[in-house]
Amino acid sequence: MIKSEWPFPSLTAIAAVGENAVIGDGDQLLWHLPEDFGRFKRVTMGGVLIMGRRTYDSLGGALPGRTSIVLTRSRLWKPSNTRGSEVVSVSQIQQIGRLLAVRPEQRWWSIGGGEIYRVLWPYTTHLDLTEVRLAPKGQVTFPQIDPVHWRQTSREPRDEFDFVTYERIGSDAVDALGALTSDAV
Ligand SMILES: NC(=O)c1ccc[n+]([C@@H]2O[C@H](COP(=O)([O-])OP(=O)(O)OC[C@H]3O[C@@H](n4cnc5c(N)ncnc54)[C@H](OP(=O)(O)O)[C@@H]3O)[C@@H](O)[C@H]2O)c1
Repeated sequence: MIKSEWPFPSLTAIAAVGENAVIGDGDQLLWHLPEDFGRFKRVTMGGVLIMGRRTYDSLGGALPGRTSIVLTRSRLWKPSNTRGSEVVSVSQIQQIGRLLAVRPEQRWWSIGGGEIYRVLWPYTTHLDLTEVRLAPKGQVTFPQIDPVHWRQTSREPRDEFDFVTYERIGSDAVDALGALTSDAV
């Protein structure tokens, strides 16, 4: 296995989150933050993005320059608008382990939405959040960040939001992710 330049194994959940933990209303975007879009593109470029089928559809297609792994229970779903990028659909977490195991040189991201952040929570080792100073209405939320389990590692304030990173305290998620990817090979 090629050694990564970041902590390995690691899975980072990246999200823009309101003060009330809302991340979406299942339909339209809740805010327009060009600096956040630009940063998301920059940090995830070249990586593996794991997402739910609803988030893939809401993006209108694949994000160029990145591998997309899309969770869906439907065996009939086919990705639209792949834009020349690799898009793989899976119906089980174990399949994700197999796909990640052969991509140790790429950084691994959990990009949502609400269901998928929760499905991947036991394997999530880091958080890369844009904490937005708004509390919009919406049914889709980010999981609760319990300070017993998460340590803040950086905070960069901006006018409308802060870029904030966290790392999980303890080795449970690293161990779970390691088991998921090593059981797979
Ligand atoms: N603010 C942010 O940073 C951010 C980031 C991402 C998304 N969002 C927002 O979040 C919303 C979408 O989130 P969501 O929670 O509604 O949906 P989601 O997490 O994007 O996708 C849910 C779908 O994933 C599949 N799925 C879920 N659990 C599964 C499992 N265990 N095994 C296999 N497939 C599984 C199912 O697809 P099938 O129905 O095809 O079976 C399910 O309908 C949108 O509003 C989007 O804009 C916000």
